Amino acid sequence: MAKQKPKSSTPHKPGKDNTKNEKNNHNHSGSTGSTRKHHIDHKHETKPEKKLQSNYLVLFVVSMVVATSTAILLSEDVQKVLIEFTQLGLNPFQEVLNLNDDTTPDDYVMHQEGDTLKKDPKQDAHDKLRELDKNAINRNNDLTQDKQDTGKETESDSNKNSNRASAINKDDMIESESENIQDNSKVKETKHQEEQQNKEQDVKEKKIEGSKKDKPRQEDYGKIVITSKGDYKLRKKLDAADKLLEKGEVAKAMEKFDAILRNKSRSPRAMWGKALATDKLAEQQKSNKLLEEAISLMDEALRLSKTPEALQLIIAEKLADRQAFRGWSHKEANTWKYLIGKHPDNLEFQRKLGVCYMKIGKNEPAREVFRKILSVDPDDGFALVHLGFIMKTADLNYTEAIPILQRGIESKQPGTQDGRFFYHLGDAYSRVDNVEMARKIYQQGADAGIFLSADQRSLYNAQTPLTGRPWWTQEQTTYQPHLKLLEDNWQTIRDEGLAQLDLKTGAFVPEEENLRETGDWKQFTLYQRGRKNEENCKKVPKTCSLLDRIPDAKGCTRGQIKFSVMHPGVHVWPHTGPTNCRIRAHLGLKVPEGPKIRVGNDIRTWKEGKFIIFDDSFEHEVWHEGTELRLVLIVDFWHPELPAHEKRTLSPI
Ligand code: LMR
Ligand code: MN
Repeated sequence: MAKQKPKSSTPHKPGKDNTKNEKNNHNHSGSTGSTRKHHIDHKHETKPEKKLQSNYLVLFVVSMVVATSTAILLSEDVQKVLIEFTQLGLNPFQEVLNLNDDTTPDDYVMHQEGDTLKKDPKQDAHDKLRELDKNAINRNNDLTQDKQDTGKETESDSNKNSNRASAINKDDMIESESENIQDNSKVKETKHQEEQQNKEQDVKEKKIEGSKKDKPRQEDYGKIVITSKGDYKLRKKLDAADKLLEKGEVAKAMEKFDAILRNKSRSPRAMWGKALATDKLAEQQKSNKLLEEAISLMDEALRLSKTPEALQLIIAEKLADRQAFRGWSHKEANTWKYLIGKHPDNLEFQRKLGVCYMKIGKNEPAREVFRKILSVDPDDGFALVHLGFIMKTADLNYTEAIPILQRGIESKQPGTQDGRFFYHLGDAYSRVDNVEMARKIYQQGADAGIFLSADQRSLYNAQTPLTGRPWWTQEQTTYQPHLKLLEDNWQTIRDEGLAQLDLKTGAFVPEEENLRETGDWKQFTLYQRGRKNEENCKKVPKTCSLLDRIPDAKGCTRGQIKFSVMHPGVHVWPHTGPTNCRIRAHLGLKVPEGPKIRVGNDIRTWKEGKFIIFDDSFEHEVWHEGTELRLVLIVDFWHPELPAHEKRTLSPI
């Protein structure tokens, strides 16, 4: 049922001064610098507090080594991720970036002697590593690529992968078998020699220890959690090679890792180092072949029998990221599954798998994974927000999604303080008519810097602070000549648009973003993400030749130009667009009595041959309570204050 009365979940005070509002939004925009800026800063935050435990510190350094290999991609790719990450109203789930990384280093779990980590069921070392590993941001970088390429993975790819995986597993088995069958005298002899050497070294170290009380012991070696016993003996060589890689001396680092691998072909850290160096080369040379080689090496390093669990996590993060980048999301899922098989109690791997499924639109297995996590830990905030997100966006089960999303957000656990969860929780409240709670959530999001304001909830915002106001005049847009050009030709545009409404020959498609409560609403798109739809434009050539004369509309990579037809009975839920970088203009083409649109707190309607202009990053809602169809041409323009360099570099939406 269409609502009888326009309802605002974010009521403005009547007569509220727009200028004031504009200023507020302007400031908000500046202070958040959008979530993107926050992430980038977070990523480059390289100085942990001074009192860190040594392990923590070195792990941090290690993680920075990991991050180096994709650092160059960062700023643009983080933008891409963020764009993918909220096509609001759609359901393209992308992995969460942790906005609030509020765990302290103090509760870092101490490692046990040797290769394994002592488990803390609640917050085990992996959680810590995940936060240490700033690569967690890079991990998200290439999701756009992922999305584009998801379909490309062929069956033979998956087969190859599983064949290779099983080959590697077999290898591992051989290795451990050979370890068990060490009954030949040569082996014994070598072993004896090694033990002898170890003892000597121990004695030496103890002596030094005696003289110098502070001399670090084995467990104080900073990289101990990622260092197997075998690698510990090679630590100096490994550290030197790591250092070269860190300094960007990729070829030299590669030589060193290769040299180590010639003697110790199963050195986890050398294999991992070589993989990173190869990945770096792949990036420098933009070579898919090298990337695939790097992936293969990472996979091998991950599956070596002696790879410590902490190193496994670091490798898996990177491997999963590269697999996703290559468009091999199914392999990414396999990576997590492998780790879950090895460490069934580690919830972090399960969280990763769940998110991986969501990224490729597999909501059902994702749901299962999150439910499983919750059966172990009912208070796992990460699982709660993700499960709630699926229930809200895929099942449209608002009443059940609400308490789950709410609890997840309230947990404040890593990964929960994310715009999408605030957005969809508020939206769920709004759709069950709990306007007060919706408002409260939006305000909370605004206070946390997630939204520009409670009314303006776009998540992919300009870096430059932009004036934000719900309704715009033609003068304010600075695009009057272009607007006039279209208004002057409105009948031509209308006739071409109406002709496309013919059900047999027309190309209008239903709105698919789940924005409607009721009714029939279709669109016919001419330009999208700054690209012309040639096929559609052939059907309305005069309209497109007019639009071709408007660079700030046809070239607006964060917008669209489309006909929009709305039939009587439509109610579009209150919603916001994904970005504040555009201004949306509607040219009335066929306007009966009945349809109306609220943006912010003002309700307006259309006039034939005239534009109405608004900023769709502000909450808006549409009703059609008339008896005839309404047709408009929607034209998105770049926000007039957006600097040229942002227009050029912003990732398309
Ligand atoms: C919207 O952008 O949500 C609506 O205004 C579209 C339309 O056709 O009115
Ligand atoms: Mn809209």
